[in-house]
Amino acid sequence: MQRRELIKLLGLGTIAAGIGNKAFSATNKKVKGPLVLSTWYNQSVTANLAAWKILEAKGTALDAVEAGVQVSENDWGNCCVGLGANPDREGHVTLDASIMNHRYEIGAVAALERIKSPIHTARLVMEKTPHVMLVGLGAQEFAVSQGAALEKEVLSDHAQKSYDEWLKKSEYQPIMNIEKQGGPHMPDPMESGEFNHDTIGMIAMDAEGNLSGACTTSGMGFKMRGRLGDSPIIGAGLYVDNEVGAATATGHGEEVIRICGSFLVVELMRQGHSPEQACKKAVERSKAKTPRDR
Ligand code: GLY
Repeated sequence: MQRRELIKLLGLGTIAAGIGNKAFSATNKKVKGPLVLSTWYNQSVTANLAAWKILEAKGTALDAVEAGVQVSENDWGNCCVGLGANPDREGHVTLDASIMNHRYEIGAVAALERIKSPIHTARLVMEKTPHVMLVGLGAQEFAVSQGAALEKEVLSDHAQKSYDEWLKKSEYQPIMNIEKQGGPHMPDPMESGEFNHDTIGMIAMDAEGNLSGACTTSGMGFKMRGRLGDSPIIGAGLYVDNEVGAATATGHGEEVIRICGSFLVVELMRQGHSPEQACKKAVERSKAKTPRDR
């Protein structure tokens, strides 16, 4: 028996911020596509609408999530996604993205500079290369080889302003602190004012009932050059298992990576937890395992 059929029979699985099993919700109600969810980035509604247009026209979940998060990537006015976002501490905007479809196909880019749509490049990595992730200059060269324009390296007005402000203190200490509890840590983002990053992660189910997800970010503002968060890492920032559900993450990537956050949520749903329970358990795991009190 197909696992999906088994799950249907058991009435497990679900829907939510992980989207859960596409057959049944936790209350055993049949869930039908299309549907779309994204993280709390304040443009989510606009991004969801772009995805919805595609889903409504019976397009694929993959096309929907790509188009959805591109709304944020193209928005020059936000702090945390796309080329208009905050730079790293050296003044370079570096972008990370990942994408996953219903067939376990994956693509990701990390530390990508001067390319407008990292999610599209991630999709091209998935579809046009035998690999799953390209980083830095190689990712940029690949994007250009596929027709992307190499954009000028300029900060948006708001990013320049934030960067100038940040430079006045430059308190970020890339050297890990060893604290009383032991273990290496980044500076506390709440104390250092670096809690200014976010990510758009989007997951969707199409009319066929297939799931896909996309996640894209500029990462932590004024980060150490070369720092990667969870967003380009499949299993951390994004995970899709078409038989079970999908999850995506936003927030402090170091903590999400530590617990393989999105994979964990999907695996908890596989075990029968609702998306809400699965997300709660993942947050509890993060709290328990993070070597400091966040
Ligand atoms: N969640 C995005 C990042 O930490 O880079």
